[in-house]
Amino acid sequence: MLSEAAVRNDGQVVELAWADGGRARFHAMWLRDNALDEKTRSPGNGQRLVTILDIPGNTVVDAAQVVGGDLDLRFAPEAKTVRFPAAWLRDHAYDREPGTDKGWLAAGMKSWTKATMQASVPRASYAQAKASPDVLRGWLAAVRDHGFAVMDGLPAESGSLMKVVDLFGYVRETNYGRWFEVRAEVNPTNLAYTNLGLQAHTDNPYRDPVPTLQVLACVENSVEGGESSVVDGFAVAEALKAENPDGFRLLSSCPARFEYAGSKGVKLRAKRPMIELGPDGEMIAIRFNNRSLAPVVDVPFDDMPAYYAAYRRFAELIEDPRFEVTFRLQPGEAFIVDNTRVMHARKAFSGTGSRWLQGCYADKDGLLSTLASLEDQGKA
Ligand code: FE2
Repeated sequence: MLSEAAVRNDGQVVELAWADGGRARFHAMWLRDNALDEKTRSPGNGQRLVTILDIPGNTVVDAAQVVGGDLDLRFAPEAKTVRFPAAWLRDHAYDREPGTDKGWLAAGMKSWTKATMQASVPRASYAQAKASPDVLRGWLAAVRDHGFAVMDGLPAESGSLMKVVDLFGYVRETNYGRWFEVRAEVNPTNLAYTNLGLQAHTDNPYRDPVPTLQVLACVENSVEGGESSVVDGFAVAEALKAENPDGFRLLSSCPARFEYAGSKGVKLRAKRPMIELGPDGEMIAIRFNNRSLAPVVDVPFDDMPAYYAAYRRFAELIEDPRFEVTFRLQPGEAFIVDNTRVMHARKAFSGTGSRWLQGCYADKDGLLSTLASLEDQGKA
């Protein structure tokens, strides 16, 4: 509930006070562009009906008044009156000191290590996730907040991983197909299709945009070894930043290059940093894959030794058991990773018995959309 509204700077700024003592300033142009009336925003779909060019460049507020705790503004030169609810203004306030930190995590993101995660791996049964919006919401929230989750109770048969994706979104089809087989092959086109251990990595960093989710489902697993493990790339990047801020700066500011040309007719390339930050310093994505790292040519000559030292240290931390959460996938179990954050690895396995996994890609926008919608229903 607002208690006070004052027009400042010849109408270019409105300063508000809430009854609980909170204060915030807003610009007239920002308020006009974000007006909530039905001529500015479609009441049906919420989309904006005007462009920035429909709003006069000399827009100011020429009257501001608190009415019943909300805000009434009149904009000149349009002589247009618009009401803003106090709670909406509070939710959208931007009058704060800009941060200078690099590599901060979005609100709600929780970085984790073996110590904090091994005993509490997020897990749900497929039948329950399908039947209960609460269970599904909890499982999807784990993917958003921790970057991975396990699902059990799937049929131990080919194609079950599609059931997991159908819970929240859509498969991203690639040159590997709608899904791909992960089993030992004689002449593999990709090292994933051998019995070798694989260093923790993110998948397909050579794609732009990178697939943001991966699902791996187990159909058969009777080999010795072959356990799966996951590593929180954000936690490792935070650890690197703490001990080597300049190394963190180099890995997050210099682009790396990634390539894959393992199959005929496929030549994928991307130029992105190993640690990607947003323009405001937010940690956005990790790309780490020794198999597809191409020659890095975008690091200043004098910085290359420090870049390689940081890359080496990043790799050492990724291998450090204190970051590694391990589980053995049984037939009928799957796990999902946020491929922009959580790395996955596989231990080597013996040639006896069989290990048959299927993997596919999907995207986080669909998952987050389904989750946000379930969270809204939960509040209603
Ligand atoms: Fe992989």
